Amino acid sequence: PKNAAITAVAGWVPEDKLTNQDLEKLVDTSDEWITSRTGIKERRILKGDNKGTSTLAINAVQALLEKANTKGEEIDLLICATSTPDMGFISTANIVCEAINSNAMSFDISAACSGFIYALEMASNFIKSGNYKKVVVVGADKMSSVMDYSDRNTCILFGDGAGAVLLEPSEEYGLMDAVLHSDGSGKDLLNVKRGSAYPLSLQHLAENEHFFHQDGKSVFKHAVTNMASAAASIMERNQLEAEDIAYLIPHQANLRIIDATAKRMKLDKDRVCINIEKYGNTTGATIPLVLWDFEKKFKKGDNLVFAAFGGGFTWGSLYLKW
Ligand code: ACO
Repeated sequence: PKNAAITAVAGWVPEDKLTNQDLEKLVDTSDEWITSRTGIKERRILKGDNKGTSTLAINAVQALLEKANTKGEEIDLLICATSTPDMGFISTANIVCEAINSNAMSFDISAACSGFIYALEMASNFIKSGNYKKVVVVGADKMSSVMDYSDRNTCILFGDGAGAVLLEPSEEYGLMDAVLHSDGSGKDLLNVKRGSAYPLSLQHLAENEHFFHQDGKSVFKHAVTNMASAAASIMERNQLEAEDIAYLIPHQANLRIIDATAKRMKLDKDRVCINIEKYGNTTGATIPLVLWDFEKKFKKGDNLVFAAFGGGFTWGSLYLKW
């Protein structure tokens, strides 16, 4: 079976910026605290009534198709990794497909900040089946829709954005290996309680239960441990030494988590791709937005290692030949 190679990348972020200085006016925080604890300087926010994650995803996918000179009709499968779908149901992927004039099989995948790498592994297996030739994976999240902008513990961390890749069969390049895990015992430490077990009620709303919640300290520890151990497994299984890796593409949740992961992998700073200062944590979109920002640096055949950790918990690492 052939590998799934990334043949095009695109990203899209809204124009409106929410800077650390803007946040100083909303909550009791400071640019110094946010920068030193997280590495984030600003995030993008999607404004406008009735604009949801599909707006972000559609813009990214349209830019992708234009770049790849590909029509929506040519796509065999579209997977949208998101934790902030437009609606309870239907899937945001269906809305994206309508916009690009595609009737392809399409669905969302929910794996929080690991959604994009989960979706890449799924797309790769569809391509290996031989029945799917052109697959789009888009990671998109409108995190501002689940933020409580009076909670300084969380609102400083997240932003809105989308990134998309086109995957096609290849003999030489593409996704070589994946290590992916989940552990539902993390469910109380990081979540958004909107769903069938948590129906909206006036009390739910009054207590701000419908917003994003996280126990930052506990999540931080799990993230550092699990991202590094998944990356170590990928390196060991594929006999990759630090010097064989061209770049680490980490999920962008916190600069300190990224630094700790790189350190465990014995990678120099110049081989770690970071853009958290510009966008904050865009959940499903961080990894494709990094690819979009850094693709000019990558050479054909470069060994890239991806690593992510998110709500669930979910986590993992991928090895991809660019
Ligand atoms: N400004 C100023 N002070 C603040 C702020 C703020 N924005 N936020 C918290 N503080 C205070 C706290 O109240 C606390 O004060 P106290 O000691 O008086 O109680 C103090 O700063 C220290 O807080 P900590 O929580 O210990 O700060 P920490 O260094 O752990 O950083 C952070 C917090 C940035 C949230 C970090 O824990 C983190 O990044 N956690 C992991 C996030 C992550 O990876 N999430 C997973 C992906 S998300 C997903 O899947 C959708």
